[in-house]
Amino acid sequence: MTNVAIIVIGASSAIADAFIQAQTEQNPDVKIITVSRQAKTALHANNLHFQCDYSKKQIQQVASRILGQELTIKSVTIFNGILHDEFDAFPEKKLEDIDLEYSMALFNINTMIPMLWLQALLPALKSKQPCVVTALSARIGSISDNRMGGWYSYRSSKTALNMMFKSAAVELARRAKNIKLILFHPGTTDTPLSKPFQANVPDEKLFTPEFVAHQLSGIIANSHPDGTVSYVDWQNKLIEW
Ligand SMILES: NC(=O)c1ccc[n+]([C@@H]2O[C@H](COP(=O)([O-])OP(=O)(O)OC[C@H]3O[C@@H](n4cnc5c(N)ncnc54)[C@H](OP(=O)(O)O)[C@@H]3O)[C@@H](O)[C@H]2O)c1
Repeated sequence: MTNVAIIVIGASSAIADAFIQAQTEQNPDVKIITVSRQAKTALHANNLHFQCDYSKKQIQQVASRILGQELTIKSVTIFNGILHDEFDAFPEKKLEDIDLEYSMALFNINTMIPMLWLQALLPALKSKQPCVVTALSARIGSISDNRMGGWYSYRSSKTALNMMFKSAAVELARRAKNIKLILFHPGTTDTPLSKPFQANVPDEKLFTPEFVAHQLSGIIANSHPDGTVSYVDWQNKLIEW
């Protein structure tokens, strides 16, 4: 059995699900470790699944169980991100819509959960083998691209994630030279997250999770540690910060 693994966090995401399928097909010998709030049957006998509530305590517990496997981690891909739902709250259209609870929930899930995972998994990622760590960001987090305004909390939670990864890239260029960081924008993808906002999206601009997972798999496979973070879209085109 191989001791090379990839880690998929937020594995119930529609894009993550397609990504796991793509990785299973492309890397049949690699162990796939999934993490989710959901109990999920491992897709492959060689896989491991951990249920996690994403509290700092449980993130550290799951990370130490992963570390205990003594695997070589090839990639970590963090899909967690929310825009609406369980708070019954939708993205803000105007200043009066700003709501502290909604905003803090988005900053917690979209910005801090990825960083807590990077923190907790760092000891496993500092090996001599290259490791690509990707967080699902969004073009809407680009400050220079913001011409429409609105969506205050979602935009800025992704902008904050981008800045966190930028700082981490500076630090890891000194401390863990074999880690490559990526911030990935999938494009508008047909998932529960985008469902309420798809009405004005032309068919050709609404991607399937399978297409996006294929693009992301290619980007990860062709990325190499260079001491920087790449903020890229599904075509691997750089996005202005
Ligand atoms: N779909 C799009 O058009 C689009 C566009 C730009 C960026 N993105 C980004 O792509 C990523 C994946 O989203 P998706 O489109 O695949 O949406 P999705 O199917 O709705 O997936 C939601 C993701 O967020 C996690 N999540 C949901 N509620 C959470 C909570 N309370 N605490 C912690 N984690 C929670 C889920 O993790 P569990 O496995 O733990 O449930 C899952 O990974 C997100 O970061 C999103 O911002 C999507």
